[in-house]
Amino acid sequence: MLSMDRHQDLIRILDSADGFLSGEEIGGVLSLSRMSISNMVRDLQKDGYYIEKRSGVGYRLFRELSFTKEMVEKEFEDIVPVYFFQTLEGSSNNYAKKLLSEGTESPFVVVTRSQSGGKGRLGRSFSSPEGGVYFSLVLPGRMLFESADHITTSSSLATAKALEELTGIESRIKWVNDIYIGGKKAVGILSEGIVDLELGGLSSAVIGVGINLNTPLEAFPEELRVKATSYYLEGGKRYPYVEVLSRVVKGIIGIQNRSYLDEYRGRCFIIGKDVRILSYGKDLGSARCIAVDDDAHLVVILPSGEIKHLSSGEVTLKL
Ligand code: BTN
Repeated sequence: MLSMDRHQDLIRILDSADGFLSGEEIGGVLSLSRMSISNMVRDLQKDGYYIEKRSGVGYRLFRELSFTKEMVEKEFEDIVPVYFFQTLEGSSNNYAKKLLSEGTESPFVVVTRSQSGGKGRLGRSFSSPEGGVYFSLVLPGRMLFESADHITTSSSLATAKALEELTGIESRIKWVNDIYIGGKKAVGILSEGIVDLELGGLSSAVIGVGINLNTPLEAFPEELRVKATSYYLEGGKRYPYVEVLSRVVKGIIGIQNRSYLDEYRGRCFIIGKDVRILSYGKDLGSARCIAVDDDAHLVVILPSGEIKHLSSGEVTLKL
């Protein structure tokens, strides 16, 4: 049985190296066999350390591409308390709601490197393999500047902006909150409000964000490969998980009023486009998108000339 101290020693050795170190060199320092080093590297990789193994050369740790509990906890020390999982059985939004129901004080964030039951909007599932960043940020009522509609749209703007700034890849929004690169979806957002009947408003909101960051194509289920993408697939390189996570969370917390709407509109690529309107799976016909109003509702014009303001709770769109 290998001790955690030994793993920490191995991390320190890899951290202090300039390039690759062979299993033999590391084994010499730790008085362990090459096989033990190889097993320890595998353990660390499972914990989110990005260690490249080059056969005949050795190992190299890339800190900025690692996604570990320690790194996330440190990064979030001054932001919000964090609950971190390598893999979550179920959905981070459900886990966050469970914590709330047990009396956990918000704000807090649940972060996972993968989840087995990722939830999407309208009862769909959300594929959540390793390579992505999945989190549920729980904000109390006092930190919510507006209605549920604004929480959803402002979160998607903050997410798209942070991702574009960090990756340089144009990230546009399909109302209400999907983020697209080119014609493919790269981020999904599911926000759920916890209603306080006495207050007559939201006591808190769970903002669930799933980012296909470094996801390789083969990690997506086959049927998604034509319509989903990741920043890695578009940019041809990997991006730093923890920095992305922290910038997106800070961005969401930072939006405090409706002034975000103009930027949101600028990124919303369906304005001027024809869509089909679906309500709970039922096709309500086609319409042309003409604007996003001050309530973050989508304004469409129907073939009859009638103008409608659609709220995200009511409809979804098909391009
Ligand atoms: C959608 O595209 O329909 C929304 C997808 C939302 C996925 C995120 S991943 C983190 C959080 N936990 C979940 O179960 N869902 C959201």
